[in-house]
Amino acid sequence: MTVLITGGAGFIGSHVIRLFVEKYLDYEIINLDNLTYAGNLENLRDIEARPNYTFIKGDVNDALFIDKLFQRYKFDGVIHLAAESHVDRSIKDPLAFVKTNVIGTINLLNACKNSWNDDFENKRFYHISTDEVYGTLGQTGLFSETTPYDPNSPYSASKASSDHFVRAYGETYNLPYVITNCSNNYGENQFPEKLIPLFINNIIHNKPLPVYGDGNYTRDWLYVQDHAVAIDLVYHKGVNAETYNIGGFNEWKNIDLVKLLCKQMDTKLFRKEGSSEDLITYVKDRPGHDLRYAIDASKIKDKLGWEPSVTFEEGLEKTIEWYLDNKVWLNNVTSGQYQSYYENHYNN
Ligand code: NAD
Ligand code: TYD
Repeated sequence: MTVLITGGAGFIGSHVIRLFVEKYLDYEIINLDNLTYAGNLENLRDIEARPNYTFIKGDVNDALFIDKLFQRYKFDGVIHLAAESHVDRSIKDPLAFVKTNVIGTINLLNACKNSWNDDFENKRFYHISTDEVYGTLGQTGLFSETTPYDPNSPYSASKASSDHFVRAYGETYNLPYVITNCSNNYGENQFPEKLIPLFINNIIHNKPLPVYGDGNYTRDWLYVQDHAVAIDLVYHKGVNAETYNIGGFNEWKNIDLVKLLCKQMDTKLFRKEGSSEDLITYVKDRPGHDLRYAIDASKIKDKLGWEPSVTFEEGLEKTIEWYLDNKVWLNNVTSGQYQSYYENHYNN
């Protein structure tokens, strides 16, 4: 079995690659990633020399290159994670999200269609998507697999569009596919522009914690290694043309999450209780900010037996410990270009 995993040098992709490389010794795992600011081969140092693993630097937007890659490797399956993934960046540059998330996905779908040439036995295109395609919830209710799509940000609109193309290739060309829509992930290797690692980094450096709006926005948080386990399960056991929602049944208002993070950080850094909370600063809200995401993950539990393995408190503690143990990683990824992104975004 030769499996193409795209975006494997990024946050979630690196955990999926490690799980597959360590678990499936007889598979050939190809990691295709063009190493944007969010991709980092440091995330995979421990497994890069494994005989069942190959890294290829390449762009999903380059259709010719993708076709050649498929001719060379004859992939049995694709797990597609490569994407532009940050909502704030999508507000500044929507077209970059259309290119990678929509056109990049279509390039891969075309390559599968051409390479598999109607012989779909044991073939599968697995598209990794987000709960943000469903738009926003009010104070109650949960997203299920049948919730209508209603994306509000350029990021979620691009992911919704790519989901539709995957389904359309299934309907039109019988391409075997499966889609999962997951809630907010947190854990090791996440680029520190997203809420949790950004705030960990800022607490380490005693910098303000920029909470958007009133902080009463709600997200459903899942530990990244639990997501990787779900991806393994869906890739091997999921039913073609089905969607599965993945989430932690773990809703937190941003401000409550930030307070818990501050408390855990004070303990880990031997700081006076309450000192990190003093860094909380309310800043201008994100335009089009979705009020609440929450996943009903009962389908994947009932059909495939998946459940999160850690509580949020445990996962958050592991995450904080990892960032504190990997300060060189953190300094490397936040130096250079990221500094100007940060200043531009938070000073405007
Ligand atoms: P990430 O930004 O950390 O990583 C994305 C990876 O894709 C990087 O390694 C990057 O170099 C690579 N990439 C970007 N553009 C590329 C291109 N044109 N060609 C090849 N590689 C390219 O993202 P992530 O948080 O790991 O998310 C992975 C996937 O999971 C995305 O599709 C995202 O929409 C989805 N997702 C993320 C979350 C979350 O909370 N992070 C939740 C649900 C779904
Ligand atoms: P984020 O990690 O960007 O994920 P997403 O937008 O995909 O949910 O943001 C999580 C929540 O935290 C979201 O409600 C926006 C909020 N947030 C802040 O309050 N301040 C910040 O600096 C960032 C990056 C996010």
